[in-house]
Amino acid sequence: MSDQTIDTLLDEERRFPPPPAFAAQANVHADVYDRPFEEFWEANGRERVSWFQPFGELCRWQPPYAQWYLGGKLNVAYNCVDRHVEAGLGDRVAYYWEGEPEGDRLTITYARLQRDVARMANVLGQLGVGKGTAVAIYMGMVPELPVAMLACARLGAPHTVVFGGFSADSLSDRMNDMGCEVLITQDEAWRRGGRVPLKRTADEAMAAAPGVRASVVVRRTGGEVPMTEGRDHWYHEVEASDDPATVPCAPMDSEDLLFLMYTSGTTAKPKGIVHTTAGYLVGVATTHWAIFDLKPESDVYWCAADIGWITGHSYIVYGPLCNAATSVLYEGTPDFPDKDRWWDIVERYGVTTLYTAPTAIRAHMKWGPEHAGRHDLSSLRLLGSVGEPINPEAWMWYHEHIGGERCPIVDTWWQTETGMVLITPLPGVTTTKPGSATKPFPGVRAAVLNEQGERVEQGGGYLVLERPWPAMTRGIYGDDERFRSTYWERFPGFYFAGDGARIDADGDFWLLGRVDDVMNVSGHRISTIEVESALVDHPKVAEAAVCGRSDATTGQAIVAYVTLKGNEGPSLEMLEELRNHVAHKIGAIAKPANIVFTPELPKTRSGKIMRRLLRDVAENRPLGDTTTLADASVVSELSQRAAEAP
Ligand code: WT7
Repeated sequence: MSDQTIDTLLDEERRFPPPPAFAAQANVHADVYDRPFEEFWEANGRERVSWFQPFGELCRWQPPYAQWYLGGKLNVAYNCVDRHVEAGLGDRVAYYWEGEPEGDRLTITYARLQRDVARMANVLGQLGVGKGTAVAIYMGMVPELPVAMLACARLGAPHTVVFGGFSADSLSDRMNDMGCEVLITQDEAWRRGGRVPLKRTADEAMAAAPGVRASVVVRRTGGEVPMTEGRDHWYHEVEASDDPATVPCAPMDSEDLLFLMYTSGTTAKPKGIVHTTAGYLVGVATTHWAIFDLKPESDVYWCAADIGWITGHSYIVYGPLCNAATSVLYEGTPDFPDKDRWWDIVERYGVTTLYTAPTAIRAHMKWGPEHAGRHDLSSLRLLGSVGEPINPEAWMWYHEHIGGERCPIVDTWWQTETGMVLITPLPGVTTTKPGSATKPFPGVRAAVLNEQGERVEQGGGYLVLERPWPAMTRGIYGDDERFRSTYWERFPGFYFAGDGARIDADGDFWLLGRVDDVMNVSGHRISTIEVESALVDHPKVAEAAVCGRSDATTGQAIVAYVTLKGNEGPSLEMLEELRNHVAHKIGAIAKPANIVFTPELPKTRSGKIMRRLLRDVAENRPLGDTTTLADASVVSELSQRAAEAP
């Protein structure tokens, strides 16, 4: 974030206390902050989750590893599905599924979800999936995606969901890292009326992942896809019972692995973030209930993220289902077939709670309020934001044009690693300020430290967390050393999130973005090094450096500086070829918005690329200190090329 933006944030004086009527009916009140941390998590552990065997010890903290609810036995799918049916809620809607093609809809009750999960679990069981078998899931936003995750959880098989926009290489890397034996995918996915060839990409990935011995393919578009005899199985062709009694919910230990979610760090290799069973479930269910003020009998909750990211895992699947909520699940994009699609959905289902990202809000802002204006949004009572800092303009637009000036907004800060929201307003308690995520959630302690590791009571610095919380990651899969060095070495004794933050005079937190070599594009985390590696993988590229620059819609956009080999000349064709190469290696989300061809990159005398300088060039900022630069003429040359770039 630029200094200018930070100044604007500091000048922000608007205050939005909770509307009295909202506060009066809220699930939690101000006294929640007074509850001792152990008592809070102990009580939520008992109240929000059903146990086959109760836990004994609340938390064992052996930094940097925490264990929670020790000695307990439970099953996540039982908690998310079966127990609700047993409690007589079988007719309650779990998901209103809205396909991308208009009119393609499905109402999935908890009773139906239970049968669907049982059937998928039986199919997986026939393929030898059981407790501990690693399963990869590569799908779009179809009902079978949560069903596949829950079927794995039912069997005790850990899963990794790979976002459907990722490439074959990204998929095979993840499957190999986790040791996946089975892959669940679909023929194709709909996207803006076009078809995304998931199965074909999965075939390419399986060719590079010899450990994957079987795949299950769900039919979605009906498009023709190659099937490998003996390895690939059409889901609808496998005969399997959907009677839940035929496939019991495996009793799992509190600390058994539930899933891995891969995320980008500061090296080229994504990290497999480990989440386990009990602490994760208690964490997401508690936060979902308190922050979204969930009234399961009457709310229609919609988190408009993709299940392929942590937001979807925690707040489309596990949190809401554990709380017996009714959710919307939408397959498509916000502008297909038209820019009012979201508002049509809100009106159709009477959505009460909408949770989305600033980048989406800014896209709607750009399209204009008339699209929302054509629909009745009066069912909405609460709005949420996640994924990146929300700028006050976007906050105010959301408040006025979507929330009708009556809905509290919860700006929720968290990460793949934290598993659950950690810094957020409570909608019936907190006075909000546009752009501030306000306070740590009850039972969570956050702080801001300066460069020397000293506590900052008021002012800016590095965001850290001081004690364990139930859903915190249990590490990076197979890489203890990297876990320690990434999060725990910078400030010994604290979890370092990688974000800058400020604390204001009221003790409210203002998040300022990443302080490491990680970009945030449309709320997705992408490492500069990962994109650089994809670029230098191209045979004509000698060297590449990548950085983010601010973008009015996507938050950050990727800028690449590329030096071509030998006598290769820059051209528009070359530019397109490189952008597509990155999309092929990583996924379309990692495509550079801009590529600047340069005969040389700015380096220090010791040969390190000066990224700070590249960021200044990308942002058109006055250049900072260049005295350590080996060849100063490179920079003026670069600024000129950046200005001319297409
Ligand atoms: C990074 C984590 C967990 C949700 C989706 C992203 C940024 C997330 C906020 C917010 C300011 C935010 C941080 C964080 N971030 N939410 N409300 N305000 N920044 O998950 O891919 O693990 O990325 O997203 O920089 O470190 P993720």
